[in-house]
Amino acid sequence: MFAFVRQADADQKSARCLACHQDSRAISFWNMSRHKVNGISCDKCHTVHSGTSKNLRAKEPALCITCHLSIRAQLSKQSHHPLKEGLMKCTQCHAQHGEFGSKMIKADSVNELCFKCHAEKRGPFMWEHPPVEENCLTCHVPHGSNHTKPLTSRPPLLCQKCHDAPQHPGNIYTNFETFRGTAASSKNRMFARACLNCHSNIHGSMGPSTRGKHFVR
Ligand code: HEC
Ligand code: HEC
Ligand code: HEC
Ligand code: HEC
Ligand code: HEC
Ligand code: HEC
Ligand code: HEC
Ligand code: HEC
Repeated sequence: MFAFVRQADADQKSARCLACHQDSRAISFWNMSRHKVNGISCDKCHTVHSGTSKNLRAKEPALCITCHLSIRAQLSKQSHHPLKEGLMKCTQCHAQHGEFGSKMIKADSVNELCFKCHAEKRGPFMWEHPPVEENCLTCHVPHGSNHTKPLTSRPPLLCQKCHDAPQHPGNIYTNFETFRGTAASSKNRMFARACLNCHSNIHGSMGPSTRGKHFVR
């Protein structure tokens, strides 16, 4: 009931702006916006008195993280997209006025969004890594993490969620074990950058033969 009243109230406020702006391309999808549906009216973000560009109440990300507190916390983590630093804006990835994509992202899928700026990860690759094709967020987080390259977890754990390290095949590399493990162990594969020391082309590779297939340099 309260939500309904709040939304009706918000819609009334927005109607004042829409009287002139309903044909603005920027707000074509306003009716699908999670903001509209949750009772956030235009004036929560805009005010004609602000004197700032686009009449915003504050600059991004400050504007957004006054409400989105969990995102604010993520931006403070060690590894993050440079939003706090002012080199990027939330609205480069999100359509604040509404969009078809889930979470109002400015693309049909997460991967299509990432490719807009990280085009080299699109490939095509001769050898593809299935989780990369599927969803970048299997391994990365968009807003921030305490693991470098904002990863969901740290290698080798990240890799071992899907790959069984003890089953790693024996090969000449087992002669270079950092911790003098036996050939049967895989200790050397756990050290420092772990798996990535050898499997460095983790997003896919063009390498011929088996080196390429295994994403090895
Ligand atoms: C959640 C915050 C938020 C809400 C709610 C919101 N806006 Fe915006 N709006 C923004 C931001 C941020 C920008 C600037 C984006 C940018 O820098 O490209 C913007 C830009 C605009 C622009 C300029 C578009 C352009 O491309 O130059 C118009 C017009 C506009 N908004 C109208 C509205 C109207 C009308 C409503 C209500 C129906 C509304 N906005 C609701 C955040 C919001
Ligand atoms: C009487 C008509 C009218 C009303 C009502 C109106 N606007 Fe505008 N608005 C305009 C015109 C005209 C422009 C300039 C042309 C353009 O950018 O579309 C403009 C521009 C803007 C811009 C872009 C400013 C920029 O720096 O690029 C934003 C954002 C905006 N209006 C938001 C709003 C919001 C939010 C409301 C409601 C609180 C509102 N407007 C009410 C007519 C109106
Ligand atoms: C006045 C408070 C407020 C402001 C300011 C605000 N939001 Fe929101 N936002 C909400 C609410 C409430 C929801 C709907 C509930 C939810 O999903 O968290 C929402 C939903 C969203 C969603 C969709 C979340 C989902 O789960 O689908 C995104 C993305 C988003 N906002 C981005 C932004 C961006 C970007 C800005 C700044 C341009 C912004 N918001 C500013 C209150 C706000
Ligand atoms: C590099 C692109 C990118 C930037 C920049 C970005 N986001 Fe997101 N955001 C995403 C993606 C991707 C998702 C998850 C979409 C999914 O799960 O389908 C997301 C999800 C969200 C959600 C939904 C809740 C959640 O935690 O998953 C909110 C709210 C949100 N973002 C707000 C923001 C705000 C506020 C900013 C600016 C401080 C911001 N985002 C900056 C890409 C981005
Ligand atoms: C609007 C452009 C843009 C989009 C979209 C975008 N990024 Fe980024 N990304 C950047 C910028 C800018 C940096 C910072 C580059 C730097 O610091 O050298 C960055 C950095 C990164 C880094 C860390 C790079 C490093 O060397 O530390 C990762 C990982 C990353 N992005 C993944 C993603 C993923 C996953 C997505 C999709 C959810 C995505 N990005 C979407 C612009 C974007
Ligand atoms: C299987 C896990 C995984 C998936 C899925 C994944 N990444 Fe990564 N990504 C990594 C790891 C691990 C690193 C760190 C590599 C390093 O430190 O050498 C990384 C690093 C990055 C970097 C920074 C370094 C560089 O190589 O440029 C970017 C940008 C990036 N990833 C983007 C993406 C994008 C875009 C997608 C989706 C198309 C994606 N990643 C999917 C694991 C993954
Ligand atoms: C979400 C699950 C998942 C994660 C996380 C993941 N992978 Fe994979 N990986 C796969 C799948 C599925 C394949 C293709 C099937 C196969 O060959 O096992 C694959 C294939 C590979 C291959 C090629 C196997 C071959 O037969 O040539 C290597 C090497 C590899 N992954 C290494 C890694 C490394 C290193 C990481 C951590 C940075 C990682 N993977 C993270 C699922 C995952
Ligand atoms: C010292 C280098 C090195 C390290 C470290 C390493 N690998 Fe490998 N890995 C290889 C080589 C080389 C191959 C190719 C197979 C061969 O030559 O026997 C391979 C093959 C693989 C394969 C494909 C094997 C198959 O039979 O399908 C997977 C999956 C894999 N590695 C995952 C991992 C994971 C996960 C880690 C981290 C826990 C890791 N590797 C660490 C060198 C390494």
